[in-house]
Amino acid sequence: MNIRRTLLLGLMALAASPLVLAQQPIVIKFSHVVAKDTPKGKAADQFAKLVNERAAGKLKVEVYPNSQLYKDGEEMNAIQLGAVQMLAPSLAKFGPLGVREFELFDLPFIFDDYNALHRITNGPVGASLLKKLEPKGIVGLAYWDNGFKDFSANRLTKKPEDFKGLKMRIQSSKVLESQMRSLGVIPQVMAFSEVYQALQTGVVDGTENPPSNFYTQKMHEVQKYMVQSHHGYLGYAVIINKKFWDELSPDLKKIVSSAMDESTRYANAIALKENADATDAVKASGKTQVVALSPAERSELKKVMVKVHKEQESRIGTELIKSVYKETGFDPAKP
Ligand code: LMR
Repeated sequence: MNIRRTLLLGLMALAASPLVLAQQPIVIKFSHVVAKDTPKGKAADQFAKLVNERAAGKLKVEVYPNSQLYKDGEEMNAIQLGAVQMLAPSLAKFGPLGVREFELFDLPFIFDDYNALHRITNGPVGASLLKKLEPKGIVGLAYWDNGFKDFSANRLTKKPEDFKGLKMRIQSSKVLESQMRSLGVIPQVMAFSEVYQALQTGVVDGTENPPSNFYTQKMHEVQKYMVQSHHGYLGYAVIINKKFWDELSPDLKKIVSSAMDESTRYANAIALKENADATDAVKASGKTQVVALSPAERSELKKVMVKVHKEQESRIGTELIKSVYKETGFDPAKP
């Protein structure tokens, strides 16, 4: 046996020895699709920092932003197969997994503000929705905020009739599909990582985003108008592979849970300002014109779009929608 081969075998034996294995940290790969400089990106990094500081080398969180590892349409498979351990997909992306109820968060105008939203995400309705993930091999750890979406396009879209015939990118949610159709828009489901190019090349004319996503993906370079419609909410469920979670020791579970509580508070504290700052940055870019809506203009949009609630009742659940109205005081008939 030559020296190189002996050395190689020696190294392989050492790597497999219990001593070395015991020193390897357990790794959590946490994949997401947005930029680091967004509410989700910052909260994921904060979570990783807290776990890595506290786990004394036993557990390590690695964050992969910007669809580096997996893009929409791939990441749910990846977590179910255990190729990654954690994700924070938007609540609009759970339909393909067979959990349609999360699409209630996509209903246009259902939350007036973060306070109304938090009555759901921090209450029994939010908890019961996370439980629905367990049969899918996933545990829901928390809700993280992003914010309220604005429409963007190369045409000014203030009135319902302005939208007719536009092609717009949406996330993979039937409720969003129906929302766009209510305006005469042709919706196109597309992975987040592909939106910039689709806007640039004219594959779609517009889209909807919270300003933080719009700005950090540089969509202001390729859209003429952003209308401050705040017509719907975009936020996240932070999820972990159930088998991985169940096998984690109680000590490490505790570290993950407390780091998650802290980073959830952090995410939800910065979301509003992150989106306000992004709106200012879009304005300052001088590229996309940011257009405000008067209360009357917003009501006009709402009147058309709120019909989606009734239309999607059978998909989301009449009782579930009613329980949200009850909790938040939302009245679909109110202008
Ligand atoms: C989108 O696809 O527009 C968003 O879900 C991206 C994200 O994760 O915020």
